[in-house]
Amino acid sequence: MIGTRMKGLDVGKIMADFPILNRVVNGKPLAYLDNSATSQKPLQVMEAISHYYAHSNSNIHRGVHQLSAESTAAYEEAHSKAAAFIGASSMEEIVFTKNTTESINLLAYGLGSRLGKGDEIVVTQMEHHSNLVPWQQAAKRAGATLKFIEIDQKGELKMESIEGSITKKTRVVSVVHASNALGTVNDIRMIGEVAHENGSVFIVDGAQSVPHMPVDVKAIGCDFLAFSGHKMLGPTGTGVLFGRRDMLEETEPFIFGGDMIREVSFGESRWNALPWKFEAGTPNISGGIGLGAAIDYLQGIGMEKIEEQEKSLTSYAFKQLETIKGLKIYGPPPEKRIGVISFNISGVHAHDVAEILNGEGIAIRGGHHCAMPLMHLLGVAGSARASFYLYNTREEVDRLAAALEKVKKIFSV
Ligand code: ALA
Repeated sequence: MIGTRMKGLDVGKIMADFPILNRVVNGKPLAYLDNSATSQKPLQVMEAISHYYAHSNSNIHRGVHQLSAESTAAYEEAHSKAAAFIGASSMEEIVFTKNTTESINLLAYGLGSRLGKGDEIVVTQMEHHSNLVPWQQAAKRAGATLKFIEIDQKGELKMESIEGSITKKTRVVSVVHASNALGTVNDIRMIGEVAHENGSVFIVDGAQSVPHMPVDVKAIGCDFLAFSGHKMLGPTGTGVLFGRRDMLEETEPFIFGGDMIREVSFGESRWNALPWKFEAGTPNISGGIGLGAAIDYLQGIGMEKIEEQEKSLTSYAFKQLETIKGLKIYGPPPEKRIGVISFNISGVHAHDVAEILNGEGIAIRGGHHCAMPLMHLLGVAGSARASFYLYNTREEVDRLAAALEKVKKIFSV
């Protein structure tokens, strides 16, 4: 297949691991370009989950029997894999959650004691609702003020706004690494330095970066990093919160109950060791094990290669889409973004674009992308969005471009 091999990444071979990519949708081969919403899952992940249920299914940390010991070991090993994947010091720094949203909510509650009247929380104008609404609520609970780092016309953060927004009153800076709606990759290392110089906690929303590029928590200098397993080939219902050990030690738990305690009396409780203090109740054991298999899969290919392949595909897609008259792409040029392209065709609603593309077997997202304030800033109700992953090809991009010409024809624009 022409164009499926790019600089060492054999996309044809990768595609063979994803049975869903063989689907025919509306009589056409599926082109799955909605990876920012969730990724597809390889056989290796499905097999890891199936093997767990067929051989070891049992609760963790609760039994001395063989199956419980096997389940505990596999679930803990998945934490260690996640730690190694992002350069964390140990599995104690890795809390499994159900998604990025839960990871950030954990912090918005767990760091509540740091926030008081007159304090400031800083996010950006390009946040997903999951890194905005929890902080709106935390600010209301504490009587704190929520401030925003502004974006410019190109959809990049304004340097002067970074320096102007973060002050000695700032207690929390929580910033998206790569925007799900614009694709913009932010200079989080620099923002982290400004946050720390001002004595603030620094949190990174890595939902759209960790699946697509090498991310090392020590290199970026964050205190916390939240991301979703289901966007990086893992099962739905899986997410991760990394926290530096000392930071997690001082963070209050947000869900209480079984397994998160060391000792309970009728009046008092003491918390379990990290990371279990934050994983109350029976967790998503099979999901965690599946996420471990997803990490193995990504590491087997190499995150540098995945990033390179996606950059090449994004540049190619830009060239194709830029030739379509009346199509406007939002956000920065390809070299400054992940494989996300948000656009509108003048005179056509984004949902209509998505609907017509679906008729061609092409899955994209149309709407506000859970970033309503950002859409308002752009002056639109929503956009159409194509988002790529390691199994996408130039042929699929060509089909996307051809289908968009068809949209224009149908709407006579
Ligand atoms: N955050 C996901 C997206 O951007 C759901 O589509």
